[in-house]
Amino acid sequence: MCGIVAYIGNKEAYPILIKGLRRLEYRGYDSAGISLVNAGLNVYKCKGKVSDLEAFASGKDVSGVVGIGHTRWATHGEPNDVNAHPHQSGNEHLAIIHNGIIENYDSLKTELKKRGHVFKSDTDTEVLVHLIEDVQANEDLPLAEAVRVALTQVVGAYAIAVLDRNDPNVIIGAKKGSPMVVGIGKGEFFLASDATPIVEYTKEVVYLEDEQIVELRLGQEVRIKNIENETLTPYIQELELHLEALEKGGYDHFMLKEIFEQPKSIADSMRGRFHVESGDVSLGGIIDYEQKLVSAKRIIIVACGTSWHAGLVGEYLIEDLARIPVEVEYASEFRYRNPIINEEDVVIAISQSGETADTLAALELAKSKGATTIGICNVVGSSISRVTDAGSYTHAGPEIGVASTKAFTAQVTVLILMALRLAHKRGSIPESRFHQMLASLEKLPKQVEETLKTASLVEHISKQYKDVRNFLYLGRGYNFPVALEGALKLKEISYIHAEGYPAAEMKHGPIALIDEEMPVVVIATSKGNYEKVISNIQEVKARKGKIIAIVTEGDVTAAELADHVIEIPDTEEALVPILASVPLQLLSYYIAVMRGCNVDQPRNLAKSVTVE
Ligand code: M6R
Repeated sequence: MCGIVAYIGNKEAYPILIKGLRRLEYRGYDSAGISLVNAGLNVYKCKGKVSDLEAFASGKDVSGVVGIGHTRWATHGEPNDVNAHPHQSGNEHLAIIHNGIIENYDSLKTELKKRGHVFKSDTDTEVLVHLIEDVQANEDLPLAEAVRVALTQVVGAYAIAVLDRNDPNVIIGAKKGSPMVVGIGKGEFFLASDATPIVEYTKEVVYLEDEQIVELRLGQEVRIKNIENETLTPYIQELELHLEALEKGGYDHFMLKEIFEQPKSIADSMRGRFHVESGDVSLGGIIDYEQKLVSAKRIIIVACGTSWHAGLVGEYLIEDLARIPVEVEYASEFRYRNPIINEEDVVIAISQSGETADTLAALELAKSKGATTIGICNVVGSSISRVTDAGSYTHAGPEIGVASTKAFTAQVTVLILMALRLAHKRGSIPESRFHQMLASLEKLPKQVEETLKTASLVEHISKQYKDVRNFLYLGRGYNFPVALEGALKLKEISYIHAEGYPAAEMKHGPIALIDEEMPVVVIATSKGNYEKVISNIQEVKARKGKIIAIVTEGDVTAAELADHVIEIPDTEEALVPILASVPLQLLSYYIAVMRGCNVDQPRNLAKSVTVE
């Protein structure tokens, strides 16, 4: 969603802002803009990409060592030049960029209109900058204080950066419900919605907490206050992010790079967390709350999108191995449906970004009811990782492609480890199976490497299906969430309609769709309901559907029936989701590329959904 970058220091701000906006492109956006303070306050903004903004600003005055930049993902008001950020106050002294939603913008706007304010855009953000102007004018306050007072009247979520032409040596930032990080360099400061625009300049960062206001003034230390006007001591942390992780490294797209990084990201997510010989599994981050998990009457997993699919694999794993009842909830439904939660429940939130608004809200609801909360996040220091009682990071590294790939397999890896640890502690798994699973787990990164060798075959298959309008994905048991995830990958990046279904459910409706035009991807690996899946394949063939089967290497039965066969290495049934997901990721990738789609930044999508 919207991206924020701001700079104040001794260098020209414009190139830093443009580079920063490019780093933020992965979040998804539809317009971009910047504002620079020099003799006055220049604002340049337009619909489209950062390159369109550069073209628009070309030849204009882009001088200045203080500036703010924004990529907008439209919520209030269509994507156009006027609604793009920055927005200015009526007197044009202030400029603001904003990520989030001001929920009471309508009533604020009505009030401000009565006081003579005139608005140009349809956005909630413009209302906020007029409100700050109003406070500044009526109460004669310095910018930081005017921002603080204005924010006390705001309901909603925000991460903002504000400039004032009358106070040209300062940037004010503030956040609530949307992430914001401050970078501290030598004689310079950065402000951004995530660390990607900052990493090449400094490793010293401060993650702002909700309702904190930061003042970045040239020649002074970082100053932070809370909304109650109390001064706080900034907690400076070292950034654990490397620049190479944000580059494509020779691949055509981030998505392809991230698919091929999976042997490493899975190994990194396992590293130091188990030993085959000693039979020890441990997740350090949750050790203090482990007993809560071991004795939980129920575990509730909350997540969205791909992370929800990982949660579904988690349900199968934890129930199968640890014998604890699990419910998997869409965070957006859970938070509003008055769910029954109590102190004996453990709620696990799964989120790559750790910033998904619905997941965060679901977690806060669970906390308020006394449940123990655990996070499985990829982004270190993210909001979800900070509000949970404990958690385990997935060590997938930055995921830039909007379509989640390596984050999904890393989430499943952590869930496997968690299920095994709980199962061992509860004595619900026979020792022999436990050791067998650890041995199989150790082999997984190599097996993913093997699976990636199917890429050229998958590319070849993709050519034949790139123009179809619909796809069906079928799987049973552990492979049902894989079918859902395969379908999501295809639809989000290729814009082909795709549905994932439990294979046996096909007879209850989707079978009506099958004809010679319909490709059906079936995950038909050898363990767990194999014969039943074969019957489902036969049902599709009888209706002339085209079968693309993901099978265990050496399989002959499915291979004879299917139109195309993609083999994956043999492993435990519970570990198959990791291997089976890889060819499905590749299938969606190649089809999307062949259709000329923007694979890394699909239309309408944002990498991290920070508004509900
Ligand atoms: O950051 P999160 O894991 O919380 O994001 C949740 C979904 O928005 C995300 O998984 C989305 O479905 C994927 N980008 C799809 O590939």
